[in-house]
Amino acid sequence: MWRGWRDVLGRLGFETAALDAKLLAGHVMGMDSLVLATHEQRPVDEAEAMRLAELMQRRMTGESVARIIGEREFYGLAFGLNAATLEPRPDTELLVDLALSALPAGGRLLDLGTGTGCISISILANRSDASALATDINLEALIMARQNAERHGVAWRLDFARGDWFGAVPPGEAPFDLIVSNPPYIVSGVIETLATEVKQFDPKLALDGGPDGLAPYRIIAAEAPRFLRPGGQVLVEIGYDQGQSVAELFGHAGLADIVVHKDLGGLDRVVCAHHLQSQISRP
Ligand SMILES: C[S@@+](CC[C@H](N)C(=O)[O-])C[C@H]1O[C@@H](n2cnc3c(N)ncnc32)[C@H](O)[C@@H]1O
Repeated sequence: MWRGWRDVLGRLGFETAALDAKLLAGHVMGMDSLVLATHEQRPVDEAEAMRLAELMQRRMTGESVARIIGEREFYGLAFGLNAATLEPRPDTELLVDLALSALPAGGRLLDLGTGTGCISISILANRSDASALATDINLEALIMARQNAERHGVAWRLDFARGDWFGAVPPGEAPFDLIVSNPPYIVSGVIETLATEVKQFDPKLALDGGPDGLAPYRIIAAEAPRFLRPGGQVLVEIGYDQGQSVAELFGHAGLADIVVHKDLGGLDRVVCAHHLQSQISRP
């Protein structure tokens, strides 16, 4: 059944037509693509055929397979999605790798703008000694993040708070060993030029970084030193052309040992900065 839909999507120019058709057919039939491959001859009932046709219509409007299925894999874990959450991207896995190295034993981290919770949940799933506070301005995103945390067995080590960046952090919670964030960083005027999957289906709140794409980094840079333990680090994901600007913002805020890390594609992807011990005596 999926082959017919593959051809339809292919004729419409979908580059991932075969994969999309297999994933959506498998979803409707309750099979992953491996099982589907070994059950090619399984008869499809009318209800399944109609359901698949509905899902394919959605795909043809540009909605991603992950949004249609309602979940996306990140760091080897499945994350549920809703209309308020960005789809986790593989690019963000570098931030998790770096955070796992940076977090001290028994460390506590702050995840600003958690969305699905993919960053902090992946970290906690790989570090049974760690705990975290995850924040977002969007309540629906936090509800999804909590569900994901429960699904992956880390909810008891992950607290949630709603609010505007550091304004969400309850009194007495700081300082943290590590701050991580993948904030919205697209230049406002560029959003309309993005692929339909992104501009129409990812929430604007998760994309829009203001007129120059740097607005959240200004806040994170300015506030991070107050919320970090001496020796603590802040790690942020950035757009490919924002490395220098974000490094400068962190430098001006008094953070030190600033490093811009590249992703597997050779593009600037994460900026890391330290709050040094000596900085606590700054006026
Ligand atoms: C680019 S998404 C990242 C989501 C998730 N951390 C990830 O990496 O997939 C940015 C997130 O920041 C949240 N956000 C936007 N403005 C915010 C603000 N002023 N304060 C806190 N969170 C905010 C959005 O709701 C969204 O979940």
